[in-house]
Formats: sequence, C-alpha cells, structure tokens
Amino acid sequence: MIRLADRTARIAGSPTMKVTATVDRLRRDGVEVIDFGAGEPDFGTPEFINTAAKLAIDQHFSKYTPVAGTAELRRAICARYRTDYGVEYQENEVITSAGGKQALFNTALTLFGPGDEVIVHAPYWPTLTEQVKLAEATPVLVQTRAADGFAIGASTILNAITPRTRGIIINSPCNPTGALISESGLTVIAREASKRGIWIVLDLCYEKLIYDPTPHNLPAVLQKECPDLAVICGSASKAYAMTGWRCGWSIGPAPVIAAQSAIQSHATSNVSSITQKAGTAALTGSQEPVTRMLDEYRRRRDHLHGWLTADGRIHCVKPAGAFYLFPDLSELLSPDGFGTTTDFAQALLDESRVAVTPGEAFDAPGFVRMSYATSMDNLREGSRRLLEFVAKHAANAQSVR
Ligand SMILES: Cc1ncc(COP(=O)(O)O)c(C=O)c1O
Repeated sequence: MIRLADRTARIAGSPTMKVTATVDRLRRDGVEVIDFGAGEPDFGTPEFINTAAKLAIDQHFSKYTPVAGTAELRRAICARYRTDYGVEYQENEVITSAGGKQALFNTALTLFGPGDEVIVHAPYWPTLTEQVKLAEATPVLVQTRAADGFAIGASTILNAITPRTRGIIINSPCNPTGALISESGLTVIAREASKRGIWIVLDLCYEKLIYDPTPHNLPAVLQKECPDLAVICGSASKAYAMTGWRCGWSIGPAPVIAAQSAIQSHATSNVSSITQKAGTAALTGSQEPVTRMLDEYRRRRDHLHGWLTADGRIHCVKPAGAFYLFPDLSELLSPDGFGTTTDFAQALLDESRVAVTPGEAFDAPGFVRMSYATSMDNLREGSRRLLEFVAKHAANAQSVR
C-alpha cells in the first residue's frame, strides 16, 4: 500500500482545474465543447509584452535572478501601486512569485500555523482555504449572500473573530461572485484587526477588472489602518492575459517578505527570468490593452446576463468585477430531477457539451460559475444550449410530477 503524508488527506485537488482537465480530455477525443469553466482570459498576451520576453531570450537573460525577483521588476510593482493607488512601498517590501497562487501560498505559510483560525468569506476560490489547511491552520467561513449582491460585510467578518483568529483573507473582486468589498467596510475590519494583532491578506488578483468607476483603493486603506499587519497579493495573470507566464507578487512588511523569500528560496527560487522581463513590460507599459479587454468583458457580461435571466428561474447578480457570472439555479433543482448543481453540470456537459463549474466547488451549492472569458459566439451558443437544456429538463420534471 502506498503511504502518503497525512496532509495529503486534508487537501482536495483544485475543482476548477478539474473542469479544465475534463474539457481538455473531451477536446482531445474530438468532442466540441463550449467552455464556461476556464478561469483565464481568452485574449493573447499584448504584443509589447511578448516582444520584451523575446528580447530577454535573445539577450540571454537566462540566469538565476535574486529569489524575490529583479530590482527592476520589484520597482515596477512599487511604481504601479504608486500610480494606481498613491501608496508607497520599497523594493524590500515586494517579492515576485509564480503567480498570485504562489504569492498567497507563501503568505499562508509565513503567517499561519497550527491552532490558528483564518477567516475567509464564502463563496470562495477554493485555493484560499486549501492553502490555509496546508499551513495547518483552520479556515473559518463567513457567508455572503446573493440577496445582498454577495456584499462582503464587515460585521459578519468581525462577528467570526475569536481569540484564535490569526488572519482574515479578503478577495476583491471576488472569484466566483465578482463582488467588491467597500473601502469603508475594509476600514472597519482593518481597524479591528490592528487592535487585535490580526493579519489582513488582500487578494487583489482581479484588481484591474472592475466594470464601473467604484472607489476601490484598498491598498491605501490598509496602508493607513494596519500597515504592519497587511499583505497584498497581486498578479499579472488576469489583467494582462498572462496566466501561463506565472507572474504574481506579495507586498507587505519587510520581515514578512524576507520570510517569504526564505521559503521560496527552498521551493522554486525566482520566477522565470524571461517572465520577469515580460512582467516588467506589462506593469510599466501602456495600460490601454487592459482597458480594451475590460470593455470587451463588460459587453460579454451584459449579454450573457441578459440571455440567461430571460428564463425567470435563473437568478443572477450582475458582477461588479472579475469575469464570472454566478447564477443561482436552485429553482431548477429537485429531488426527481437534478438534486445538485454538480449533477446539473455533469448532465449539461454530457448532453449539451457545455462546461460550467458547479457551485459546490466554491461552497455554494445551487449556483454555477460561468466564465465569460470566451468569445461572444461561444457565449451566445453556450447560452442557447443551456436554456434549451433547462427547458427540456424542467418540462420532464414537470411531467413526472
Ligand atoms: C481569487 C484568485 N486569486 C488568485 C488567483 C491566482 O492566479 P495566478 O496564480 O494565475 O496569478 C486566482 C486564479 O484563478 C484567483 O481566482
């Protein structure tokens, strides 16, 4: 019998990646699938970023760099946050990692340990809670609700604090709900955290994907209220269509960054040197491609939302950020039809060749996540198939009754 370390039993594989793997397998078998599962931009990386990477290769920029990343890239991150938020960070307060995922992982390992509780708002991106468990701490979930637009309320988070609370993870814009936390809400949380010595980890990986002008200067709130207890994790993945490059970062107090650098030095060392050149170009170059992609996501969001909610049984909050719709399908579930959204999603994939991620993956049964980071043609055809599927099965369920 193969004996693995105990921690492997506590951790579930990424359910969102599982959907992607299923779609890949079907496509390799020649099956045409409309994929609403993918959590990544369908756009290519902007050309000027590719050019910077090609130049790096041609110039043999191919050696190890400092573990935390080149000074050039770290300065570019500081400059980006200065321009976007008016906040000041120094180079030794920044480390670059293999995506926001590794930045968050380093952060969890650096700040949390056995016996600690870490508050996470649900529905959540599953990696957040699994990383807390990998750090041998305990995730404590607080629910946000569709009826309130999935608002991340300060009072529900504060009510979950116990003497064992060591951290609060805030993800805004949130995957899967697209909700934002308000500056005032974060202020209340950060003040209390500061009084009690609780860490705030802010996952800002979708920070560039906010549709309407909304006050969202969360870094300034943290710098004002709890600079010594805040870590921000960001990423080039979603903003610059760079998911495969693996470029993310943590920003926080210098001792936290030094500890993350020590951990990373024994795990992966630096982010690929070529990626670092690409990331520097992305952060320092024109931000116009980001605006163009955002405009297109907005158009898709509005269309997809309209098409789906044409069926009165599908309820859906219009997301303020990120690129996911998170419709409530609970009216379509029944004991004699689909009992869960996992069943629904499987049958939708088998019969109609449309992939969605079931809400169970985000601790939100009754919902599904649909990424609109795909073409308008796919969105139109995928919605048509989904509505047809719903009409057929709802009619069947009614005739059984
Ligand atoms: C909420 C959230 N945070 C962080 C990430 C990390 O992305 P990456 O590792 O590509 O930067 C993701 C990716 O899907 C995400 O959804």
